Amino acid sequence: MTRILSGIKPTGNLTLGNYIGALKHFKDFQESGEVFIFIADLHALTLPIDPEFLRQNTRDLAAFYLASGLDPKKTTIFVQSSVPEHAELNAILQNYLYMGELSRMTQFKEKSAKLKDSAIGLGLFAYPVLMAADIVLYDADTVPVGEDQVQHVEITRDLVNRLNKRYGEKTLVLPNYKINKVGARIMSLSDPSVKMSKSDPKGDIFLKDPMNVVRKKIMSAVTDLGNEVKYDKENKPGISNLLTIYASLKEISIEEAEAHFQGYRYGDFKKEVADVVVAELEPFQQRYQQILDDQSYLPVLREGAKKASQIAHVTLKRVQNAVGLLNIDE
Ligand code: AMP
Ligand code: TRP
Repeated sequence: MTRILSGIKPTGNLTLGNYIGALKHFKDFQESGEVFIFIADLHALTLPIDPEFLRQNTRDLAAFYLASGLDPKKTTIFVQSSVPEHAELNAILQNYLYMGELSRMTQFKEKSAKLKDSAIGLGLFAYPVLMAADIVLYDADTVPVGEDQVQHVEITRDLVNRLNKRYGEKTLVLPNYKINKVGARIMSLSDPSVKMSKSDPKGDIFLKDPMNVVRKKIMSAVTDLGNEVKYDKENKPGISNLLTIYASLKEISIEEAEAHFQGYRYGDFKKEVADVVVAELEPFQQRYQQILDDQSYLPVLREGAKKASQIAHVTLKRVQNAVGLLNIDE
């Protein structure tokens, strides 16, 4: 049976990029295999974050997961730090990824470039080790992520191959990443040359934005010269990004979206994109709010941690045994 695993960091302000690139698709896997979706709170500590903010973001993300259609009967939903096996396996795996390869990770280079050397935590550097632990603990073969995380799944594959060669082919399961055909990389609305991340209040649509703000952001999105609604990432990055948003929410191809908007003016085009985003986010936000208010995410997370830990424990034991740690219970 296919095992699917993914996670999102609770660093706050989830964006439409997270929704289209990751969150929206998680529920689709529920029919095809056994799904594990978690909140990567240990990863959220890799850059400075206020403790109360982190805790609130964790509740938020749990509610977002449930609001997106994840069914706790089918999907194990849990918080990373509530399953201690993640940190335990991390302590073993850190010996099998090397300084050179970790320093070549794009995410590390980008995030550390903004910091003084004296403020770059070891956790930011070792980020892919913990992520590898997350993945292999559940024998996951499929990891749905946005484009920016592909490199981290690839380094996990290197690690798995390295360990299996040394300790036997059955030590760890080799994972594959899965990115969506449309929407794996949503760009900022104010600068379509950078990805929509959690940091630009003008160019990013946040999942908690009021609907009038969502509309305003889309209507003032940067467009391009000319007046044709055409997908051309090089010369029309702004229009291409809006087309991508539209196509992925409507679940159609870029070509179908282009055909639909043939002859449209930019203003009317943006208005229709805004309508589609609002139609998706408004009910989603209502469900999210309800779940936060009634705190129904709490029993889900407790049950999820229990189920996750049972499975993770088996893998941890297998690895401990393979590398030569003594099992005093036998
Ligand atoms: P993060 O917010 O970095 O924890 O990312 C959570 C998930 O959202 C990962 O699978 C990312 O690849 C995905 N993601 C983040 N930003 C974007 C974006 N702008 N477009 C598409 N996917 C994204
Ligand atoms: N690193 C991912 C991100 O920033 C979050 C994450 C942590 C993850 N562990 C994972 C995603 C394991 C998939 C699988 O988006």
